[in-house]
Amino acid sequence: MVSFATFLVILALLGLALQFVLNKWRKEPALDHIPTQQFPDGDNSRARYLTDLRYLLELGYRRYNKVGKAFKITIPIGGYAVKYRVILPKDHLEEIKHLSNDVFSWQLASRIIFAQDYTGAPDRGKWSGKALRVGIHQNLGDITTQLDQRIVEYFSSHLSQQKGSVDALNMMSFFIPTITYVTNALLVDSRLSSDPEWLRQTANFAVNRYGAADDVRKWPPYLANIVAPFIPSVRRLRAQREYVMEKMKPIYEELKASGQLRVDDKKLRRKGTFGYEWLWGGTPDDVTLRDFSDTMMRTMIAAIHTTAKTISVALIDLLTNPEMVEALKNEAQEAVSPDHASVNLDKLIKLDCFLKESQRLSPVFLFTMNRIVTQDYEFKCSGLRLPKGTMVTGPAAAIATDPDVFRDPGTFDGHRYYRMREEAKDSASSLVLGMSTIDSLGFGLGNQACPGRFLAVNNLKLMIARLLTGWELSLESRGREYKGPRPVMAYNDFSVVPPSEYNLRLRKL
Ligand code: HEM
Repeated sequence: MVSFATFLVILALLGLALQFVLNKWRKEPALDHIPTQQFPDGDNSRARYLTDLRYLLELGYRRYNKVGKAFKITIPIGGYAVKYRVILPKDHLEEIKHLSNDVFSWQLASRIIFAQDYTGAPDRGKWSGKALRVGIHQNLGDITTQLDQRIVEYFSSHLSQQKGSVDALNMMSFFIPTITYVTNALLVDSRLSSDPEWLRQTANFAVNRYGAADDVRKWPPYLANIVAPFIPSVRRLRAQREYVMEKMKPIYEELKASGQLRVDDKKLRRKGTFGYEWLWGGTPDDVTLRDFSDTMMRTMIAAIHTTAKTISVALIDLLTNPEMVEALKNEAQEAVSPDHASVNLDKLIKLDCFLKESQRLSPVFLFTMNRIVTQDYEFKCSGLRLPKGTMVTGPAAAIATDPDVFRDPGTFDGHRYYRMREEAKDSASSLVLGMSTIDSLGFGLGNQACPGRFLAVNNLKLMIARLLTGWELSLESRGREYKGPRPVMAYNDFSVVPPSEYNLRLRKL
């Protein structure tokens, strides 16, 4: 029997041999012509990168992007098949925003960012973004009604209903299952959306995907491949992927049997009311069960934690700005019908503006528009050449705090977008939360931008309107009401971490 220590030594030796081979074989695209931004104090460690990336990006944005130049940052964490991210200035992003996945690929970027080759996380069919966008667009009215019903149902059964009673909740722990529940009701039928095990698993997909990627990235790429199958989070993720396929199988077979797979009349495919049917509507003819179930899993991953983080951050922003609470509550009371049966989202203008400001200062992702260049590309706007395989991205958070774009950019101003919309009535529609523009990249930009954003926006507004009209809300920290200033949100790598020390306190009205 080989002891564990011997096994580790063999593993390390194998790793070194592999590193040697890979170093010979792997060619980084030549990016010497693009300057590298580093931390000025010389600490460019993995830990610094993971906790202080926002600062690094802002430095590079001001120094290079503002004068029309791209810059790059080194990715000092393992498990990445590329060494650099190239951060593009605005005009370059405008140039690529309509280019397809075949030229600037979101799919490939995501494969690298989430270390998919090592973790075995599901890939996304190229077709799924468009299929989801079209499905949501065509069904947004019904989707919104459904969302509202499910939110009311969930809040009624999970929050105290007796007048004056008080709940105190950890926000992410509460909103992840809430959003899992309402999202599932839209995406899959009651066979799955009422199955507690399915709900538990879907709530966990994103945590496992991020966790597995983080665990793999603790290792350099040449070892990551060898170690990955032994990492518990990776094993869980792989098991979940099989679980999803097993659960999607009857649905997939039913769609096939019902003739919805017919290639001669694709219109037939679009008739359904559930997300799996819209997705199906956009699949290519030869889609496999694996593609289909992976896409379902990816959609859950994309939808649940992003929305949970956004509402958690927004509620912290709201409840540390007491004057906003009154304004948004009055607006919500106007929007909810007298019998409480429905919410008129068109009336929630101040809430939309408030959420946009919250997203501006604490976006879920510090950069969006992650793409891999699939062929050598020369920018028309500048002549900059990028070799095939380069990873590019857009500095969403840095643009959002650029003083040339936003007056007093570091200050949280809940009415900022309301005033901007009043001042520029002609372009007001481009300032709403769901609209992506070059100065508002929270959902990405162009034809690969978030296809679920209008659903997310309606979900966020409905949840907040229902909370504001049903409960008196406040924050608590360490068991006491918190009346201090708005905290600055921390980031882990490129993703926001809503601070867990603030609980949401709800007093039933
Ligand atoms: C507030 C919540 C959300 C935020 C902040 C968010 C943000 C984003 C961002 C930044 C991207 C990448 C876009 C780019 O790089 O240009 C993205 C992609 C994506 N999002 Fe969202 N998202 C949210 C909610 C949702 C929801 C609710 C769904 C589904 C119902 C969804 C589905 C997707 C999908 C499928 C993609 C991948 C696009 C593709 O396949 O090309 N997202 N999202």
